[in-house]
Amino acid sequence: VSVLGKKGSLTEILKGMKDVSAEMRPIIGKHVNEARDVLTAAFEETAKLLEEKKVAAQLASESIDVTLPGRPVATGHRHVLTQTSEEIEDIFIGMGYQVVDGFEVEQDYYNFERMNLPKDHPARDMQDTFFIERSSTMDVTKNVLLRSHTSNDEAHYMSTHEPPIRVLCPGRVYRNEAISARAHCFFHQVEGLYVDKNVSFTDLKQVLLTFAREMFGADTKIRLRPSYFPFTEPSAEMDISCNICGGEGCGFCKHTGWVEILGCGMVDPHDLKACGIDSSVYTGYAFGMGVERITNLKYRVSDLRLFSENDVRFLKEFESAQ
Ligand code: DAH
Repeated sequence: VSVLGKKGSLTEILKGMKDVSAEMRPIIGKHVNEARDVLTAAFEETAKLLEEKKVAAQLASESIDVTLPGRPVATGHRHVLTQTSEEIEDIFIGMGYQVVDGFEVEQDYYNFERMNLPKDHPARDMQDTFFIERSSTMDVTKNVLLRSHTSNDEAHYMSTHEPPIRVLCPGRVYRNEAISARAHCFFHQVEGLYVDKNVSFTDLKQVLLTFAREMFGADTKIRLRPSYFPFTEPSAEMDISCNICGGEGCGFCKHTGWVEILGCGMVDPHDLKACGIDSSVYTGYAFGMGVERITNLKYRVSDLRLFSENDVRFLKEFESAQ
């Protein structure tokens, strides 16, 4: 600035050139220009050096040691209920089933009516079902609800597909229950459906036995007890030998040696017909199981609320299980 700047000494000399005589001007001018070139070049050179030093210092301070071990990135893992659900799916995929997704927000018609649950069935009571919209006339095509079971997927699938049908429908279901250690307002189910010619109860039994043995071990026994579900005839509930006490009797199985894990039966011909399937040609079986219950049997989780509270101390217990 003091030499080359606007008011610098060299600039002053250049300004004074007008006062120099005509014969001296080229001589002095030449020296002044030379001096300016030398000084400008020196200035630029120094500026460059300083910039390089600055960059070098910056690089030195920012250098990274590439030989240091990397910092671990927390990736999380699948929830234990997802793990159980996928384990169930894998077993049935191995038997030729296809996994399909369904609707959690559902029409009354598919959740109940088409599954042969008449209008006055107790399961339709407000206490059990969360209605999103409820028409005053109880028009089943207008009522919208959170599905109370995965059996709604059966109705959808049978209405849109021709037999042979062999599907597995996992998903979340909702019921208007007070939350406690043993009940929750939402939980998970896996529904199975098989419709073809000559499907019999024996097929159902064999498939369920295979499932129980793969899920809980080769020694697992099953027993089927007659039961009632509106969408199956005949209907049954299936128990497995308690895998916690090995059938000896314990607190978990209420000292009976057996634990109920699912509902099942032969698809009611009424349902087949309602979905456009010829019940004189086709028969089918269906089953539905609770994922929380099966997870409890495997890991003995005593309180259902733990599954949805997302306490990482609980979730981490199942990190290595997958
Ligand atoms: N939907 C029944 C429930 O939520 C379970 C069930 C029972 C499903 C029998 C079925 C079945 O497919 O055949 O309790």
